[in-house]
Amino acid sequence: MSPPQEVLNQARYLLSRNGVLKGKTILVTAGGTREPIDPVRFVANRSSGKQGYAIAQEALNQGADVILISTPTVLPVPFGAELIPVQTAAEMEKAVLSNLNRADALVMSAAVADFRPTIAAEQKIKKNGELLELQLEPTTDILAEVGRQRNGYAQLKVVAGFAAESQNLIKNAQKKLSEKNLDWIFANDISTSQSGFEVDQNQGTILFRDGSSRQLSLTDKTAIAEVMVSLIADQIN
Ligand code: CTP
Repeated sequence: MSPPQEVLNQARYLLSRNGVLKGKTILVTAGGTREPIDPVRFVANRSSGKQGYAIAQEALNQGADVILISTPTVLPVPFGAELIPVQTAAEMEKAVLSNLNRADALVMSAAVADFRPTIAAEQKIKKNGELLELQLEPTTDILAEVGRQRNGYAQLKVVAGFAAESQNLIKNAQKKLSEKNLDWIFANDISTSQSGFEVDQNQGTILFRDGSSRQLSLTDKTAIAEVMVSLIADQIN
């Protein structure tokens, strides 16, 4: 009889402690934020958290301490990760900024809502056959905020983001890379149903600030995570 998964996860974690990322802390955000409309409804997006959880697991495999800031998902929390559960963009912003001083790297893989309802109703909104208008206001761009502040964090060596794009992938991602002051960005091709949101595979191009790039063709999110974590290890060490 093989040992239960929990025991295997624990053993894998203990064996990984001397990996290349030993003593380093990686902050990973995952999932899609939920912006409340009323006590039962929210504005959300299609992010499943799979890519972020794969990055967190791989960073643990390489010996890192991992802080995983995540919205609710159906995924098991990687053994050994410090989970900070959040729901909204504002909660995620607070969690990221208050843990940044502990981080050697930040990977912002979460799909953060760009807009939230201006008012979250205290009671459930009842239907009355009329149109319901929602007014949305912009949220803070967390990654851009980190990009502005990053010089104040001596330990923080790598700041990385994702750009989920359905068109003009490289151009849009390049703009985000420079405007958010990142070391690299994963230009995530979501134009096909095989990759991107909710599925187990992904594809895209990692763009670096020096203008170079690395293309990752369609593969498992775990394999994408391996490439990213190995990049981070090279950049930190
Ligand atoms: N991001 C963030 N805070 C936001 C929005 C996005 O930190 N309020 C981060 C995401 O986690 C991602 C990167 O910024 O790593 C790019 O996110 P994306 O949604 O692709 O782009 P936006 O900057 O929101 O621009 P747009 O929606 O106009 O494409």
